[in-house]
Amino acid sequence: MRALILTGGLGTRLRPLTLALPKPVLPVVNRPFLEHQLLDLRRQGVREVLLATGYKPKAFAKAFGNGHRLGLKLRYAHETRPLGTGGAVRQALSFFKGTTLVLNGDVLQRLDLASFRKRHLDVRAEVSIALTRVADPTQFGLVETNGRGLVKRFLEKPSPEEVTCDTINAGAYLIEPSALDLIPPGVLYSIERGLFPELLKRGRRMAGWVSNGYWLDIGTLDKYLQAHVDGLGGAWPLPLAGLRHKGAFLLDHGARLSPRASHEGRGRVLLGPGTTVEAGARFSGSVCLGADVRVAPGAALNDCVVLDGARIGAESRLDRCLVGRNVRIGAGSVVGPGRALGDGSRLTPFSR
Ligand code: GTP
Repeated sequence: MRALILTGGLGTRLRPLTLALPKPVLPVVNRPFLEHQLLDLRRQGVREVLLATGYKPKAFAKAFGNGHRLGLKLRYAHETRPLGTGGAVRQALSFFKGTTLVLNGDVLQRLDLASFRKRHLDVRAEVSIALTRVADPTQFGLVETNGRGLVKRFLEKPSPEEVTCDTINAGAYLIEPSALDLIPPGVLYSIERGLFPELLKRGRRMAGWVSNGYWLDIGTLDKYLQAHVDGLGGAWPLPLAGLRHKGAFLLDHGARLSPRASHEGRGRVLLGPGTTVEAGARFSGSVCLGADVRVAPGAALNDCVVLDGARIGAESRLDRCLVGRNVRIGAGSVVGPGRALGDGSRLTPFSR
């Protein structure tokens, strides 16, 4: 099967991290985010992937090239102006040869493709939408299905009294080429708010299929951190090949860990290539350190992400925050929950 991945968005909710890199290329546990999804597709038999790019296309080519490294044949369809999710799919019409998988490029999910496809074919749907269950559906687009799993209704961000189900659009679709005729070519158009409701209105057959695997939309700063905490905590399978294990620490090549550094609580700490953690550094929960990061003596880090080249000063404290590339955090500084420091930020010692 072929897969088209939508990767053209600006990723505004992930600023400042997306100022330099597009969301699908931002590192998640030290690999470009989309690599996790691409490797999973490859594991499930997908061989040809088209990336629909818009924002910062060169970053994709640099990270993934022609896909050879990942065992995939990877191609790119670039939009000089954003076409929206539907416009991007329409532009790629010639890529659709039979049933095609379409994915949002900012969702971390373990999708059982064989079951999804079987269901799509069994009910002879023109479009099938993967669904995931959430505890609070009021922040999402709900998809209501009938007893046979066919889509009955779409409900965008309902109020608590309007909630009729807990299944939301998981950002993965199986689409037959015939469904794309409804999308006007060359204009800004949404697949979720345009094509799907239009198909439903015209009585075309759409199915919903509930995926029970791990699911997380990494589109906000909170969720981006959550992806790391979950991965290092074991909620989704990390690619661990080539890492050395020392208790709760995972060390990439060239990483150095002082025997006097400590970790407490659940989770693990990942040290990227060439990263150094000095004596007396204290970790708790899940912490991801990129390549060539330096954590000075006595620093304390809890549940956070530190990107490549950052320096964490002595006796500083970082709690549930995101630190961009090449950031300098002066000694004795405190960075609290929800904070995100853009690439190259400088904090003078004792900053709060
Ligand atoms: P925000 O600006 O933070 O809302 O992020 P976003 O721009 O990525 O938008 P959103 O999260 O709604 O997008 C969902 C998926 O569709 C992401 O994988 C985007 O990269 C992709 N996407 C959104 N708009 C476009 C577009 O115009 N063209 C293409 N090719 N992909 C898009």
